[in-house]
Amino acid sequence: MSTEDVKATVRERYGQAALRVSTGEKTSCCSTSCCGGSEDPISSNLYTEAETARLPAEAVLASLGCGNPTALTELREGEVVLDLGSGGGIDVLLSAQRVGPSGKAYGLDMTDEMLALARENQRKAGVENVEFLQGEIESIPLPDNSVDVIISNCVINLSIDKERALSEAFRVLKPGGRFAVSDVVIRGEVPSEVRRNMELWVGCVAGALTEEQYLGHLRAAGFEQIGIEPTRVYEFEDAKAFLSGTGLNTEVLAREVSGRVMGAFVRARKPA
Ligand SMILES: C[S@@+](CC[C@H](N)C(=O)[O-])C[C@H]1O[C@@H](n2cnc3c(N)ncnc32)[C@H](O)[C@@H]1O
Repeated sequence: MSTEDVKATVRERYGQAALRVSTGEKTSCCSTSCCGGSEDPISSNLYTEAETARLPAEAVLASLGCGNPTALTELREGEVVLDLGSGGGIDVLLSAQRVGPSGKAYGLDMTDEMLALARENQRKAGVENVEFLQGEIESIPLPDNSVDVIISNCVINLSIDKERALSEAFRVLKPGGRFAVSDVVIRGEVPSEVRRNMELWVGCVAGALTEEQYLGHLRAAGFEQIGIEPTRVYEFEDAKAFLSGTGLNTEVLAREVSGRVMGAFVRARKPA
């Protein structure tokens, strides 16, 4: 598949996921497994009840991340936050509460149906310090040095040009700005069948960077104080769940990828 085909497939699949939420269904496409109805090992149980209680039900239903970036980073009153690939808006709404009325939380997404869902969730939440932008993370529609904190939840792995996405994140951050991102990251290597499988690309696994690649791309973009901390390591049963429905040999490959795919929190800073 060409990179443009991959992007079109990602947009189409996440558009379908947004429409399912609009009709009251739980979304499930960060991991292909959950499309079959089983518990999604990547996106389930990421938020506390205290966090979700204050959000519209559809924002919670639409959650397709692999971590909880706003819980792992400090956000201060008055700051500007940008969520790359904001989906149904859960992390944007949580950020907006933390930065308060004097701050602002932007969400950026390329999928129209997700943006429509996120804007509806903003309306239901009744918050004004939020703006959802249409666009791609490889070409962020914001000026240089305009954002205090970049968050993102399980999106950079989906990008067809991760180096450009990370350079764009660096460009829009203010000097001293923080990068605080949850993403799927590979520890070691995974078999090439896994890397080539489109279901697993859409499911946030096939396109994931290794720890070394992430560190290298962040350093090349200009970031410092870089750290990658595992938040959830997917073991054999989890791997079986995300491999099911891909057409691959689930039992054999689950053994090979067990413990090598993880949800991780990636932090870095733009030099002051
Ligand atoms: C796995 S979902 C995560 C959504 C949200 N962050 C969450 O935690 O629920 C991926 C989202 O990223 C968006 N996306 C994927 N690639 C993108 C890109 N290159 N530029 C902008 N948005 C992108 C998709 O439309 C989708 O809404």
